[in-house]
Amino acid sequence: MTTDSDVNKRIMLINGPNLNLLGSREPEIYGTDTLDEIVDSARSQAEELGLTLQHFQSNSEAEIVDVIAQSRGNSGGLIVNAGAFSHYSWAIHDALAAFSGPIIELHLSNPGAREEFRHSSVITPVATAVISGLKARGYLLAVRAIAPLMAS
Ligand code: DQA
Repeated sequence: MTTDSDVNKRIMLINGPNLNLLGSREPEIYGTDTLDEIVDSARSQAEELGLTLQHFQSNSEAEIVDVIAQSRGNSGGLIVNAGAFSHYSWAIHDALAAFSGPIIELHLSNPGAREEFRHSSVITPVATAVISGLKARGYLLAVRAIAPLMAS
């Protein structure tokens, strides 16, 4: 049986389109760590805090919407780097709005300091907090930031 306290110990980390290419994708912007390395470190950080971290990456908006919906009642908090979807996916916005726990919006780069189309995020209005511009280190900070926000 899954109890509320199990749920509240579980973080779901979601990475959107093109983040599977980390390590070789524009390393001057996104850093040289691969997605596997980033997820491994984030998972270790979560475990140090007594939490578990599940991870999902997809280039498909529909799959991301489905995973956010499945997180309702299964995860206590979400960390979401929606990649380019951050800038226009109202479907992801709506899926996140229906999630009741804390949500950290995460970006490796600082989109506000880049091209105009990256300056607005449709995720921000439904996020608890935003971490950006710290490359891979942002993932560790996101885990540490979300931990005390998850109900015990
Ligand atoms: C990103 C920033 C987005 O603008 C971009 O489309 C990405 C990655 C980041 O982590 O910095 O794919 O979310």
